[in-house]
Amino acid sequence: MSDLDKAEDKYYLVSATDAQLYAEDVLKGNGVPANNATIIAKCLAAADLRGVDTHGINRIPSYIARIRQRVLDPTAQPELKHITPCVAQVDAKNGFGFLAAELGMRSACEMAKTFGIGMVSVKHSNHFGMSAWVIQQAIDEGMMSLVFTNSSPALPVWGGKEKLMGVSPIACGAPAGKAKPFILDMAPSVAARGKIYKAKRRGERIPPDWALDAEGNRTDDPAAALEGVMLPMGGPKGSGLSIMMDVFSGVLSGSAFAGHVTNPYDPCKPANVGHFLIAIKPDLFMDSEDFKERMDYLYQRVVGSERMADVDKIYFPGEIEQVCEEKRRVGGIPFVEAEIQALNGEAKRVGAKHIRVSG
Ligand SMILES: NC(=O)c1ccc[n+]([C@@H]2O[C@H](COP(=O)([O-])OP(=O)(O)OC[C@H]3O[C@@H](n4cnc5c(N)ncnc54)[C@H](O)[C@@H]3O)[C@@H](O)[C@H]2O)c1
Repeated sequence: MSDLDKAEDKYYLVSATDAQLYAEDVLKGNGVPANNATIIAKCLAAADLRGVDTHGINRIPSYIARIRQRVLDPTAQPELKHITPCVAQVDAKNGFGFLAAELGMRSACEMAKTFGIGMVSVKHSNHFGMSAWVIQQAIDEGMMSLVFTNSSPALPVWGGKEKLMGVSPIACGAPAGKAKPFILDMAPSVAARGKIYKAKRRGERIPPDWALDAEGNRTDDPAAALEGVMLPMGGPKGSGLSIMMDVFSGVLSGSAFAGHVTNPYDPCKPANVGHFLIAIKPDLFMDSEDFKERMDYLYQRVVGSERMADVDKIYFPGEIEQVCEEKRRVGGIPFVEAEIQALNGEAKRVGAKHIRVSG
């Protein structure tokens, strides 16, 4: 994110509204009903705004490829079934993961308002992009949340060398009072796999501690890294978190697990991703104002902590992305020419308008 922002003059700028409009039009042109296209496009633009460029509208061509190969159903409407008063299951019906997760978190929040907690398991889903948008959905309802998903094999388990577990993000959030909310959204690898796809798209090298090539050597070549494996963060701890995402999202839901989720860039068969969503009412044990004051105090303690050498500022989890969002809402979202061309290629195929760029 920050490297892009430093060199924004090399990039074409697109407003969040235009990014969303582009995605909506292309999705509708590929058979996605208008209301659903709006939900998906909003989530993708939210990732671009937050600087999570790996999970923004640049993902459109890969999603559309899945629709064209008939391994993702553009018209599928997720279905929700209550299991207990505070537990529900969503069958995504092989539609967009964004729709299933949005429905799931909406229901989890409703249940949490009445029962204090709402838990939703999602099966037969697809990639839902950046987890932070689901966390933000809960924060907008005043809720704390946990958002887990599994994903296709990209990471060895500790001690292994084959791709087995996903680089599956673990995410959680809590609203605050006057301070920024807590939004932790992190892949259990040293870096998210999408960052390697992004580097490949942009003709950039990657840091050598991100991945191994097919022969098990460290590499700074994104194409070679995609043939090899991602490295887990913190050795067995990162690998353990990835297995945890598979237990809660894959095993529990009835979706694919243990290395059987299909890669979102592999348009050969349905992905069968699982998600696990929890919403928690923050004023269960004290009144709401006390909770918010305590979150604000935590924020101040964290960002006001004594800094190590060479550190100018300490950030709360999620804060860097929120600062980026504030900046990009005003200045626009940067894209390189090859990305604009790929996006316009998708627009042309369905007779939609080219994406509007402002610079
Ligand atoms: N759906 C999927 O299958 C999938 C798979 C992998 C990743 N992703 C998404 O990719 C995105 C990127 O993941 P990532 O692990 O590369 O993120 P990251 O490493 O950029 O950030 C991880 C977390 O650390 C925090 N953080 C980063 N720098 C910080 C700093 N200096 N001080 C304090 N906090 C800081 C961020 O706010 C964030 O909460 C996420 O949004 C994730 O949901 C999705």
